[in-house]
Amino acid sequence: MNAAGQLVLGIESSCDETAAAVVRAGHDVLSNIVESQASEHATYGGVVPELAGRSHLRMIQPVVERALDEAGVDLDDLCGIAVTARPGLVGSLLVGLCYAKSLAWTRGLPLVGVHHIEAHVYAATMEAAQPLELYPNLALVVSGGHTALYRAHSPRQLEPLAATLDDAAGEAFDKVAWLLGLAYPGGPSVAALATEGNPGAIPFPRYRAKDGRPGFSFSGLKTAVLYHLRGGDALAPTPAPADIVGRADVAASFQEAVVDALVGQTLGAARAQGFQRVVVAGGVACNTRLREVMAERAAADGVEVHFPSPAWCTDNAVMIAGLGWQHLAAGDSAELSLDALAR
Ligand code: KG4
Ligand code: ZN
Repeated sequence: MNAAGQLVLGIESSCDETAAAVVRAGHDVLSNIVESQASEHATYGGVVPELAGRSHLRMIQPVVERALDEAGVDLDDLCGIAVTARPGLVGSLLVGLCYAKSLAWTRGLPLVGVHHIEAHVYAATMEAAQPLELYPNLALVVSGGHTALYRAHSPRQLEPLAATLDDAAGEAFDKVAWLLGLAYPGGPSVAALATEGNPGAIPFPRYRAKDGRPGFSFSGLKTAVLYHLRGGDALAPTPAPADIVGRADVAASFQEAVVDALVGQTLGAARAQGFQRVVVAGGVACNTRLREVMAERAAADGVEVHFPSPAWCTDNAVMIAGLGWQHLAAGDSAELSLDALAR
């Protein structure tokens, strides 16, 4: 790492946000540019990988230029370039990765590959005066692509503890939003409608593993919502959104089931594993009801909970630059043969 500098350029393109940021010493944010493709995917109710890759290709250069401009720095001021290398959509990851490699090679800068999930967890600690003091923690990463628990020993060392057997929680929000005729991304629109409904109106199922081990599953819940909309008859046609009676109750009861499962599994695991600190990260961590219920039940268990600010829950490059700096400071950097990995 260039000893003169502490500035890292972070680049994120793993899903449907093209993002770049400049961060000093792993926590001091100089710029944070996020170009969302949500409107391009909205008609399809989910991310279309081909569209995402093409859009990243169009946006990557202007987004990186804006991040440098806003930070008031140029490439020669950087001590390294951090880029999301996994997991994500391969075609999307490759755009950011190739761009980062070209910049690193042409400027003789160290390159570092960052794990997207580890970066989400790091984001939840970056706002603390001393991010490292929030480790070890039990981390719940809950986004459109992932729902998993990790024993986070340090920013660079996460040990998987449990994951979803099927859908991610954010994906379930997106699918239920689609069924209810709400806008994509589904999380914020379901959450908004849920404020008008009764969370106890419909007893949707909460997954629990038979052997009591921590874990998540949301496909049964999604199917339960679908069958509820069909009046309990699996073979009946799905009603058009305008014909659904009690839409707000469905939204509120669905959200309550997701929140209850996330909080129950996380605090159960914290108890079993002896963690007194929980960190919640990823796009679904924006959810107000999740924040309320987690805070309330964690306090009752004597567990401390940390959520990042909403802007740092969803995909961004601040978390990539921040964690990238930790890798570089520890002497880790990547070869130019660094490859993109979907998982
Ligand atoms: O972390 P993220 O930006 O991207 C992935 O890495 O997947 O998460 C996006 C997901 C989407 O599924 C979106 O519906 C969900 O986060 N989300 C929410 C809320 N805001 C975003 N889910 C529930 N409530 C919210 N307020
Ligand atoms: Zn993410």
